[in-house]
Amino acid sequence: MERLLEPAIKVRGEISLPGDKSIWHRALIIGAISEGETEIVGEPAGDDVLSTESCLKQLGIKISRKNGKTVVSGNGPKGLKKPESVLDAGNSGTTLRLLSGVLSAQNFESVIDGDSSLRKRPMNRIVAPLSLMGAQLLPSDSGGCPLNIIGTATLNSISYKVPVASAQVKSALLLASVCGGVELELSEPYPTRDHTELMLRQCGVNVKTNGNSIHLDRNVKLNNSVFRVPGDFSSAAFFITAALMLPESEITLKDVGLNPTRTGFLDFIKKMGADFTVNRAENRSGESYGDIIVRHSDLKAVTITAKDIPSIIDELPLIGILGTVADGITRVSGASELRVKESDRISLLVEGLRGIGVTINEFEDGFSMEGGQKILGGIVDSGNDHRIAMSFAVAGLASKNGVTVKDSQSASVSYPSFFTDLEKISE
Ligand code: S3P
Repeated sequence: MERLLEPAIKVRGEISLPGDKSIWHRALIIGAISEGETEIVGEPAGDDVLSTESCLKQLGIKISRKNGKTVVSGNGPKGLKKPESVLDAGNSGTTLRLLSGVLSAQNFESVIDGDSSLRKRPMNRIVAPLSLMGAQLLPSDSGGCPLNIIGTATLNSISYKVPVASAQVKSALLLASVCGGVELELSEPYPTRDHTELMLRQCGVNVKTNGNSIHLDRNVKLNNSVFRVPGDFSSAAFFITAALMLPESEITLKDVGLNPTRTGFLDFIKKMGADFTVNRAENRSGESYGDIIVRHSDLKAVTITAKDIPSIIDELPLIGILGTVADGITRVSGASELRVKESDRISLLVEGLRGIGVTINEFEDGFSMEGGQKILGGIVDSGNDHRIAMSFAVAGLASKNGVTVKDSQSASVSYPSFFTDLEKISE
């Protein structure tokens, strides 16, 4: 579906966002491997979370919704049932990678697959360590999914250095170790989002973090819990960008997740000179959340390098949009992970921006651009990638002639009501 985003004068108002996608996946999965009922409170997220939910149902887990709450009836760490057919992770890398960890510790064979985008994404990053733990994982000829997993009830403890900074890999290993009842020692090149660690701790699991290293004690059982899911910061970032770019804008984003491993975007827009306020609180699992109020600002360019990437990974396309107006040269490097997301986000960002009149340089691991440019407008191919579609929708509001976004329906992966909400605040 194509959608035209006309230039807007400003954005104003208040938005409540869908629940944090990363936390939703984990709440459902941790609920499934706990014993008894886990309650999840918060706004539903999009299609990706529904993929996790339907895979868990195929694995024998009961999930119901009542009065704004989701209840997961867990079967314990090794209690999943062999599925009767292939598990479908849809577009969701988090579903596929986290569930692979859990499935490696179950005493049955299963196959997990996804859509054409997911089939292209690298799986060796989980296949290698989960194989070391003793499970057998057989990817497709190209190294991706469908992924055949022959789980075992007797996994090994491992000590592992994760070669890429990836919360999905870290979480797959943590979940495999929790389900297998074995110890885990791992280190990552840079710290990545820590929702899994926080939520496991809330369930009584002993996970210790020391800099880039994590130690998980042997564990036998997870206490059930109530998880409160805040609004998704990654979804909030689209509105933050719109407000910063359009004159006289001011918006309030309500109850947004503010876990510091996720909010690198706020740190960088602060360096860029953004005018915003944050009112912070904290919930039971140690996840902070709060309201963000953002106003239009004149911005300066920033430089983002490898060590910064994990905490801003999903918001980097928006740095590309903000870089068009920020004074000076905006540079992003060390971000080659962007090429193996739902799409090759570096290439789609660069092609998309060039197509709407922006000059930008592309590198293997990032991009650079001079600010003070005007986004003219035109047609952009989103590559069916939700974050690319939503980033260019914002570019459309800030453009001279409007931007038509192809495959805009992909927004439903993380934010089904995105276009309605964007329209609601645009003037
Ligand atoms: C996610 C981790 C990140 C992120 C993705 C969600 C998660 O991926 O890009 O959108 O929920 O763990 P990587 O950990 O592979 O970088």
